Amino acid sequence: MFRQRCPVLANDRVAPGHHVIRLGSARIGRTARPGQFVQILCSDSTDPLLPRPFSFLTATEKDFSVLYRVVGQGTQMLAGQRKGSGLWVLGPLGNGFSLRHSERSEESRSFAAKAAQDDSYLLVGGGVGIPPLYHLAQTFKDKKNIHVFLGARNRSLLLCEKEFKKLGVNLHLATDDGTKGHKGFVTDLVSHFLRPLTSSLSPLTCVYACGPTPMLKAVSRVCASARVPCEVSVEVPMACGFGACLGCAVRVRKGGTDQDHRFAIACKEGPVFQGSDILWD
Ligand code: FES
Repeated sequence: MFRQRCPVLANDRVAPGHHVIRLGSARIGRTARPGQFVQILCSDSTDPLLPRPFSFLTATEKDFSVLYRVVGQGTQMLAGQRKGSGLWVLGPLGNGFSLRHSERSEESRSFAAKAAQDDSYLLVGGGVGIPPLYHLAQTFKDKKNIHVFLGARNRSLLLCEKEFKKLGVNLHLATDDGTKGHKGFVTDLVSHFLRPLTSSLSPLTCVYACGPTPMLKAVSRVCASARVPCEVSVEVPMACGFGACLGCAVRVRKGGTDQDHRFAIACKEGPVFQGSDILWD
């Protein structure tokens, strides 16, 4: 984890009310893993006092970017930053996705491929939960069995659609108003996709999800009934980002039962958890 002042390299509007800011930092860019996040102080004044958490959209040897929605004073100030200014950043923070695809040995991959022919990874994102999945999608060498499910209120808010297309993954789109793709929830698409495949799913099949809590809850439920492992990146308010304020607690199972639970600190133990570990209700 590093704390440093990062130069603003670009800050562009990418959708109504949404911007991408790119910041220079070799140390943060090199060490960032998909699903991790940074805390950005949106101005040099004490108002707002607290930094804001943002997942990585991209990370390179020289810089990183985050995609944010303008929702309040902090993000409004962020949207006003111009190329050449600087911002204080803390990160990378938290635990990201498990990257099963890159951690498996070639031997186990070829065994699994022979066994089931379905080395599939499903990435499910809604709203500003989409950026960390784009960061994750970039880490897959073979994109043909990557299925990305994106959900939004309408077509103009389907974030990163063009970027995912360029990667060559399979895209499945859903909008609340039906202006693009399936009219309804993105989780309907995931459920339809998994249902006929369940008996032939490879042990490498995994679902990664990030988005609003009701979506994560629904994805976890769908995956539990299809017996597919699922990792979710939770969206919770974060003040400090490194375990000091205890303001980001989420209820997780302890001892494998619903009755026994504990509170996990999302910024340190997460924000990525096994979907089956979280007590959603
Ligand atoms: Fe402070 Fe997690 S944000 S403990």
